Amino acid sequence: MGTGRHPDYVSGVKETAIRASASGKVILLGEHAVVYGRPAIAIPLSGLRAQATLIPHPGPFHIQAPAVGIDAPLSKLPPDHPLARIVYLTAEHIRRPLPDALLRIESEIPVASGLGSGAAVSTAIVRALAAWYGVPADPPTVSALVYEVERIYHGTPSGIDNTVIAYEQPVYFIRGQAPEPLPVGATLHLLVADSGIPSQTREVVEDVRRNWEAEPTRYEMLFERVAEEVEKAREAITRGDARALGKRMDANHKLLQEIGVSAPALDRLVEAARRAGALGAKLSGAGRGGNIIALVDKSTAERVREALKTAGAVHIWQTDVEMGPAPLAVPGPS
Ligand code: MEV
Repeated sequence: MGTGRHPDYVSGVKETAIRASASGKVILLGEHAVVYGRPAIAIPLSGLRAQATLIPHPGPFHIQAPAVGIDAPLSKLPPDHPLARIVYLTAEHIRRPLPDALLRIESEIPVASGLGSGAAVSTAIVRALAAWYGVPADPPTVSALVYEVERIYHGTPSGIDNTVIAYEQPVYFIRGQAPEPLPVGATLHLLVADSGIPSQTREVVEDVRRNWEAEPTRYEMLFERVAEEVEKAREAITRGDARALGKRMDANHKLLQEIGVSAPALDRLVEAARRAGALGAKLSGAGRGGNIIALVDKSTAERVREALKTAGAVHIWQTDVEMGPAPLAVPGPS
């Protein structure tokens, strides 16, 4: 990446302040199975962002994150605190001292909702520190640094969250491989609805692991069936066939129920969206709480939004995945 290639991520000059941002994300299909080597598809939520601002400030490096009640010198945070960890990792990676600065973190992305708030904050911090020193921060490098912090939050993450956020484009992802950009045959309209119930990714992922260990054959079969849905969805997205994609999303939700990560509140939102005319709907992210996504067309979007509100959604965001060929230049893995 570097500040030159994505100037929209970074603004300001070092003498005043450097501000960088990163998007949230949603998983379109394939969550959980992706931890076990199956493919998944994720998209950035470019309208929902975390910001990191470095403000010149004498004295030791200081962090302010008002949303989580942090206003302290970096040295006062435990070194494995996610905010401290990404700062140390980045400084080490770019081989620069910590700047004489105050780092202020702000985010519009709700926490514990499966929208990638932790990975977005980490990504914004890497970009801000790299920009301060004018060193490149290409997506594979940013993704790898953020992955280290994701491990603190999530235990055994697949890496899909840091990848889609660092690349900020729709991706087809298999753990351990370079992400593939996704050509989109027709613009997709999605509603993301928050159940208001926290989703603790780490706990849900650990729970699925325990179940997989107890019933490996059954879980492997479920993950295989998820993988089949992801492959069919990928083809539908490329052809621009929203109706077919909706069916794959419905099937993926059913499999997530069988995997054991849905919840009555999520099922209610999914049902409400479908009844109001959504082409498909499913939970998104780790589950048990957090968000559902509904694929809509322009004529039904408003009706589905109203139905989701009535069914208890506490926030609803609309996002479009724009039609277009896959971006040409996706750098390889670092
Ligand atoms: C979390 O956004 C997605 C999960 O598949 C976990 C992971 O991929 O690390 C539930």
